[in-house]
This record gives sequence, C-alpha cells and structure tokens, in this order.
Amino acid sequence: MYEDDVTRIARLMRDRVLSGMRPTGALHLGHYHGALKNWVRLQHDYDCFFLVADWHALTTHYEDPAVIERSVYDMVVDWIAAGLEPDLCTIFIQSRLPEHAELFTLLAMGTPLGWLERVPSYKDRIAQLAGSRDLATYGFLGYPLLQAADILAYKAQWVPVGEDQDAHVELTREVARRFNRLYGRDVLPQPQALHTEVTRLPGLDGQKMSKSLDNTIAMREEPDVVAQKIRRMPTDPQRVRRSDPGEPARCPVWSFHEIYSDEATKTWAAAGCRSAGIGCLDCKQPVIEAIEREQAPWRERAAEWLANPKRVHWIVEMGTERARTVARQTMKDVRDAMGLTY
Ligand code: TRP
Ligand code: SF4
Repeated sequence: MYEDDVTRIARLMRDRVLSGMRPTGALHLGHYHGALKNWVRLQHDYDCFFLVADWHALTTHYEDPAVIERSVYDMVVDWIAAGLEPDLCTIFIQSRLPEHAELFTLLAMGTPLGWLERVPSYKDRIAQLAGSRDLATYGFLGYPLLQAADILAYKAQWVPVGEDQDAHVELTREVARRFNRLYGRDVLPQPQALHTEVTRLPGLDGQKMSKSLDNTIAMREEPDVVAQKIRRMPTDPQRVRRSDPGEPARCPVWSFHEIYSDEATKTWAAAGCRSAGIGCLDCKQPVIEAIEREQAPWRERAAEWLANPKRVHWIVEMGTERARTVARQTMKDVRDAMGLTY
C-alpha cells in the first residue's frame, strides 16, 4: 500500500465529525473565529465531514434562493482558503444527497411536535426575523430535525458547533434514542457537541457579528474596506474627546485586541486608553494590520481556486460521492430496522 492509502485508512478509522454552514452570503471573521478555525484543526485528528447546508438556507431564504446559488461554491472557496484540505476532509453539498431528505422524513414520523416547538432558537429566530420574513412554515419548524438527519446519516460521534446550536445536538440525541427504542436496534449513535476553544469575535458594533446586523468584515474583504470599517467602529461612548480617558472594557475595539493582539500591544492599548495617552485611531491601527495579515493568505489561496472553478467543483464532486457511500449504508440500516425492505 502507498503511504497515502495508509494515512487515508487511519483517518477513516477515527471518530467521525460532522458540521455544516448555511450558504447565505460571504463568510465573515465571526464564522472563521467561531467555527472554521476549529474545523481546520479537527481535520487532522478526525474523519471530518463538512456540509454546505443549502436546504437549511432555504428554510429562511425560500423566497430568494438566488443568494444560495451564488453562495454555495463561494463558501467552499472560503473554507479551502481558510485551510480546509480536500485531501483531509470530506466537503459536500446537502441537497445532492436525497438520503438526508429520506432520513428527515422517516425521523419526522415519530418526532413529537413539542420537541421542535420547544427548541429555543425556534421562537427567537421567528421573533428576530419577523419583520422581514414569514417563518411560520413547516420547513422552518423542521430545521433542527433536518440537522439531526444530517448528523445521523453519518453516525457522527462529534458535532463541532457554537453554543447556540447545542439544543439542536441535544434534539438529535433524543431523536436517535427514540429511534433505537422504537425499532429495537442500536442503529443511530448519539452524537455529542464538540466545544473546543472557539473565540467569539463580536461585530463592529459590539453585538454578535451577523450579516443581518450589517456589522461584519468578510473573510475576503478588501484591505482598504477593512481599514475603513475598523476606523469607523464605535469606541468607549464615554471617550468623547481625544483628551478624555477611556475604559477598554466599554469598547468593542477591545474585543478585537483580545483576539488579534499580543500581550505587549494589549498593555500599550489599555494603558494608552486609560491615560488618554493614545487616540482611538492609534489604538485601532494594530488591529487593522493584524486582520490584514490574517486575511492575506486567504486572499491568495482563494484567488487560485477562483481562477479554477472546475477544480472547486471536482472537490465537491469527490466529497459528495464519499458522503453518499456513508449515507447510503446508514439508510440501509434505518430501513432494515423499520422493516421497510418489502
Ligand atoms: N444549523 C447550522 C448553523 O446554523 C448549520 C448546520 C446544518 C449544521 N446542518 C448541520 C451544523 C449539521 C452542524 C451539523 O450553523
Ligand atoms: Fe477603545 Fe482603544 Fe479608543 Fe480605548 S483607545 S476607547 S480601547 S479604541
């Protein structure tokens, strides 16, 4: 056997990880620090499956699916630019695998309505997006169950997600338990949320970084736009004039220092802020430079892949077929357990 094959087999024997993201626009620094950075690490130690959750995107964007179409391959490019290596992990598109829909349907039969209505993100999201979208849909209620199907189709042991998704993993565990009990076989293993140190980078206004709040910096944002956005960031509201001393704890820029700056820079910024020894633009400059340094290799790698869309498609093609092999086997086990083999 070639060494490549040996490594590949060793990887296949590792615990399986599954995670996904919704293709609803360019990825931003919040996605990178909150999830993607972690995926890049995990691909070396686990058998990782990363899916483009385009059906999940449709639950909120069913009226403008064009955004999704534009974002699918762009997101894959962002993933690869950030360091996912197609030889180390499996990258695929949810909608290319009818197995996800089949499992979703079969699980739906025995899932109590109350389980879905009680998921905290459900009512929150509806309230949050109430003005802009009608989410009183069957699809949106089923969102966490579709996610359960994504996870269970691969019998994944680990699901790296942010805390906001914990309830979905918990629901997945309940659904798996119920399935095994109903059909008397241990077909579906219960996955666990995997919280490795993720760093929460807030948005430019100090709230959660989110496209709907218009407070993001895209992973591939142009350097002059990055600089402009940081320079316009609000600071400690009590530091009105340059001569007013400030307090970093009250300033959203400080959260950026905590992620992007070394100890010396942080000490300089905090002391300069409290003594009014530096101005806010001085304070922001090292952050601007650090973001630019972080983004430079992404931009370079992305440019290579964008120049070669066929290669990107090929990666997804390979990943989708790899995923299909696994999901098919699970569906066979599921149909067997349910007695649907007539
Ligand atoms: N719901 C996830 C999110 O909003 C995306 C997602 C879809 C996902 N399917 C998944 C995450 C399966 C983990 C596992 O980001
Ligand atoms: Fe914020 Fe820095 Fe200005 Fe202090 S000096 S208010 S930390 S930007």
